Amino acid sequence: MHDHHSHSTTHATLAMPAANSEATSTEVVVLRHGGVYHLRAGRVRRRIGDAMVEMLAYNGSIPGPTLQVPQGAEITVHFTNETEFETTVHWHGVRVDNRFDGVPHDTQAPVQAKSSFTYRLRFPDAGIYWYHPHMYEDYAQEMGLYGNIVVTPSESNYWPPVNCEVALLLDDILMEEGKIAPFDHSGMERLGNVLLLNGESGGVLRAKRGEVVRLHLTNAANARNFNVGIPGARLKVIGGDSGRVEHEQIVDKILLSPSERATVDVLFEEAGEFPIEHSAKSRSYRFGTFVVSEASIESGLAAKFYTLRHDPELTALRGAIHAHFDRAPDKTLVLRGDMPGMSRDGSHGGGHGNLHHGDIEHTMPAMGQLAWKIVDQATDQVNHAIHWTFNAGEQVKIRIVNDPQVDHPMAHPMHFHGERFLVLQRDGVRNDNLAWKDTVLVNTGETIDILLDASNAGSWMAHCHIAEHNEGGMMFTFQVQSDQAETFDRHTAHAN
Ligand code: C2O
Ligand code: CU
Repeated sequence: MHDHHSHSTTHATLAMPAANSEATSTEVVVLRHGGVYHLRAGRVRRRIGDAMVEMLAYNGSIPGPTLQVPQGAEITVHFTNETEFETTVHWHGVRVDNRFDGVPHDTQAPVQAKSSFTYRLRFPDAGIYWYHPHMYEDYAQEMGLYGNIVVTPSESNYWPPVNCEVALLLDDILMEEGKIAPFDHSGMERLGNVLLLNGESGGVLRAKRGEVVRLHLTNAANARNFNVGIPGARLKVIGGDSGRVEHEQIVDKILLSPSERATVDVLFEEAGEFPIEHSAKSRSYRFGTFVVSEASIESGLAAKFYTLRHDPELTALRGAIHAHFDRAPDKTLVLRGDMPGMSRDGSHGGGHGNLHHGDIEHTMPAMGQLAWKIVDQATDQVNHAIHWTFNAGEQVKIRIVNDPQVDHPMAHPMHFHGERFLVLQRDGVRNDNLAWKDTVLVNTGETIDILLDASNAGSWMAHCHIAEHNEGGMMFTFQVQSDQAETFDRHTAHAN
């Protein structure tokens, strides 16, 4: 959907002289219902290890400000584009009004350089979300345009008690000789070689012994899956993409594909230094470090940490959706990575700096443009040619098959805009811990069934969240219609 002419504009900007200020630290902005906020995208300079590089930032920081809003609130964000290329802001996972979803040429016109757009946002669901551009994502996200949104629940005991909480965006960046590596737009996923924790390489977080710290984790990488752990500390998963999990679980690690989130409580029983790590196949890499001081805290939360709670709503929902587990899917999608003109024995990518391509299943294309495809099995339509229509209130069972018999087999994180879904089963195995999701990782050769809660009217996009695959056309749109009266009500509500 984005032509390659426009890409050359972004290429040119890379060579522009840096005349920008240094990135500031990320602020937490607390907004109330009716709140108004100004957000701008522009250039900054930022230190990555020993290198000073030019990057992009929302409001001068990488990540951009963490917006904290109460569940049910409506806010206004006046966005100004101070970059030299067109952009939009997408509010990932938030069931917004369709007009403010930030999809260029579909829900809004692109925001031209030096222009503005006003987003009116509502936040029906508690949990952790994020915002990022929906144009040239392969470039813009890698360059630093992303931020978190924490939606605080209306129900007071929604989350367990903790001493403090922090939103962490996990990312990787591809550096070459002290510079951000050039963008080739080959359609091949860009894997970084330096891990970033809230935009920083090797950052430090602090806690006290006995503290329970809540981490809202988001994978903001273009393409890499992160398997996150903090060896020496206990992790309790309490939330997924959108709100609570069906039952809380103590884990060693949690796997997050691009755009997936998790809310995790961490108990530090000992003082010391604890690495925040990504475990790849062959070894681990460090995002940053938790430094836990001896000054122990007597909050009594450590004891409560081991109480594993259930979400009554999801438990009830499991019963209510029972019939969907075994019925035939309404739609079946097949994911494919075809490479015109490539022989099957594609060479393997070499190691890059301290992170190795070989640590995820990955084959470099020998030549030619990759063709990333979502195929609707019933019609054989591909990508943007797919047009689905549902009625609000429908529960749509969608089967997603990741075909391993292709030139470039790999896992794809599939994301649906505007709605939420439950993962019913993976390869026929029922999901024993439901959570509302907007992204699901479909591994090579895997078949996944999801149940889409089509309830938010509009024209929504679905796509692979590997930025290069999405830019390469691995996307389609679907409509959710609601009756006239409801649409009218929603519009008048907004006019007031
Ligand atoms: Cu976070 Cu359409 O994406
Ligand atoms: Cu993909």
